[in-house]
Amino acid sequence: MRMTDLISKKRHNIELTTTEIEWIIKGYTNKEIPDYQMSSFLMAVVFNGMTKAEQLALTQAMVNSGDVIDLSAIEGIKVDKHSTGGVGDKTSLILGPLVASMGVPVAKMSGRGLGHTGGTLDKLESISGMKIELDMQDFVKQVNEIKLSIIGQTGNLAPADKYLYALRDVTGTVESIPLIASSIMSKKIAAGADGIVLDVKFGAGAFMKTLDDAKVLAKAMVEIGRDAGRETVAFLTDMNQPLGFAIGNALEVKEAIETLNGRGPADLEELVLQLASYMVVLAKKAANTEQAYVQLKEKLRNGEALQKFKDFVAAQGGDINQIEDPNLLPSASTVLPVIASQTGYVEKIDALKIGIAAMKLGAGRATKEDTIDMGVGIVLNKKVGEFVNMGDVLAYIHTNQADSTEVIADIHQAYEMTESPVCSPTLIYDIIA
Ligand code: URA
Repeated sequence: MRMTDLISKKRHNIELTTTEIEWIIKGYTNKEIPDYQMSSFLMAVVFNGMTKAEQLALTQAMVNSGDVIDLSAIEGIKVDKHSTGGVGDKTSLILGPLVASMGVPVAKMSGRGLGHTGGTLDKLESISGMKIELDMQDFVKQVNEIKLSIIGQTGNLAPADKYLYALRDVTGTVESIPLIASSIMSKKIAAGADGIVLDVKFGAGAFMKTLDDAKVLAKAMVEIGRDAGRETVAFLTDMNQPLGFAIGNALEVKEAIETLNGRGPADLEELVLQLASYMVVLAKKAANTEQAYVQLKEKLRNGEALQKFKDFVAAQGGDINQIEDPNLLPSASTVLPVIASQTGYVEKIDALKIGIAAMKLGAGRATKEDTIDMGVGIVLNKKVGEFVNMGDVLAYIHTNQADSTEVIADIHQAYEMTESPVCSPTLIYDIIA
């Protein structure tokens, strides 16, 4: 086979065979195919897309480029969740213990964040002593004992995706639904879960800007998951304003604890309960999502979900005093209010602008080498649909910096106001199950 012939085939929109796609991925992973040929191939995919069969072949080839985690030593049906990422998205911190409190094994490998705020691992590391690197034996043992462990990615999962993603990032080929779908699904499939619940977000603060694009991506991922033998469900959810109130690592852990205590923000609690209901049904621990929802809500009310979070933190070396008293978590030296300069209804809160403002405070990384300031961030005080009087507090900035002028201006810019009443936005637009 010659790479030039395969590039040409894709450029003429002729379907590639599974063998051809495997050859490309193997060759690129082994560094036999140079970046310039791979870039050209990727650009042809951006323009011509991929058929369903090609997407599955690409995903499988990327899965097979590295280790596939064997979770068979964990009893029960393992269900994982993946979010395409959003501002204030701390759902994994709540979902893990909540679903585990229903007896569903949650063996989760998470990532760090690049951009607005940290990823799940960074947020967990705001708890003193929390170990997020366990070897596979301890990981499996912990899940069998307490049903929950969240760790950093171990082993060599889908290395082809790692190389391809780095190349896409610098060749203008990230925005391709087949490439995004196979990239995400290759990592999820290699991580070994039997069932996968996807939260595909769209809007200003998300990867997908429109509902239509998010739907195409969600359908592609559900089909890949099913064809690869994993039960897969995808949610389409709004990211036109941050989720919950808190943006920033320890601030999000605090909000997660509040939610596990049954006192979380309504949008966050609802999304978590809905996602968790599907995870519980995929794990065959409830007959349907309505039943699961009622049982899960009770776990938030009766403290069992919070207890599971404490068990998990203790098992991974974290300080549970900080869970019992979240004021002991890292905090910023200064809390500043951002005051509304006009009266009206909040029409929109640009999640991307809020995310960037949080990153400027030090809550996220602009480059992989940056360190995160765990205690800083933003806590919204007004959400879309609320009425605001001039002089009310729109949000609070938690900062360790001397000058917050720029961040205050960013937050003012993120809030769009109108004189007419505004409905609260829909949170869940569709569930592809
Ligand atoms: N996240 C991924 O893991 N891969 C993509 O291609 C885009 C987002």
